[in-house]
Amino acid sequence: MKEPPSRDRAVPHLPPEGLVLRTARLELRPLTLEDEDLAVALFTDPEVVRYVCDVYTPEAIKDHLPVEVERGAGGRIGIWTAKLIETGAKIGTGVLLPLPIDAKDTDWSLLVHDRYPDAEIEVGYMLLPGAWGQGFATEICVCLLQFAFEHMALDEIKAVTDPGNLASQRVLQKCGLAAEGMRRAYGEDCAGFGITRRAWGNTAQGRGAGGRRG
Ligand SMILES: CC(C)(COP(=O)(O)OP(=O)(O)OC[C@H]1O[C@@H](n2cnc3c(N)ncnc32)[C@H](O)[C@@H]1OP(=O)(O)O)[C@@H](O)C(=O)NCCC(=O)NCCS
Repeated sequence: MKEPPSRDRAVPHLPPEGLVLRTARLELRPLTLEDEDLAVALFTDPEVVRYVCDVYTPEAIKDHLPVEVERGAGGRIGIWTAKLIETGAKIGTGVLLPLPIDAKDTDWSLLVHDRYPDAEIEVGYMLLPGAWGQGFATEICVCLLQFAFEHMALDEIKAVTDPGNLASQRVLQKCGLAAEGMRRAYGEDCAGFGITRRAWGNTAQGRGAGGRRG
């Protein structure tokens, strides 16, 4: 395995094409302001946000979107939009973001252009209900883990879910994350998960069967 870059050094910018990721069925592109339709569809749906947050109004989503399209660490930290390669339909998002401990939301000020955020980094995903139950969240999560361990100087990626979000916990376990018990995140008691660089290297996906860069 390649030696990871040092977390302490300034992070070189990845060219835009380096941030476009591909899996067997999906293309992941950095979220843009043009993804307001997807953001509204996700965050106004009580079923989607059930274990994540309160329902937002379309106006609040539009107001917050300019913050959410920001990226840190040379583009490596942020939100990706997942599209079906076959149809171009947007089905959801995947994230690599600093994990908030006591705050209710991501601390977006930690997304510094040329540095890794001084925080744990979480992987996450949200899909429109029509895309559930087909393995897409697993595909997104594997792809982002592969990207993270290949392109970042991080030794570990974390994830948290509501204790009742069993589908998401199953996704994390399928991707090789280990259950680490209850922990504090988003100002709540969450089910905590994590995977080290070393453990990732021992998974089938980490040995090369997962997503790849486009
Ligand atoms: C949770 C979510 C991401 C799962 O996406 P998905 O594409 O359906 O997930 P996958 O198909 O890759 O895998 C789901 C796994 O959970 C299992 N599962 C589904 N519902 C379950 C439940 N209620 N209890 C236990 N396991 C469940 C599935 O059987 C599948 O496991 P399997 O492959 O071993 O059969 C999706 O439902 C979603 O976007 N929900 C709303 C947003 C959200 O909660 N995001 C996560 C925040 S932590």
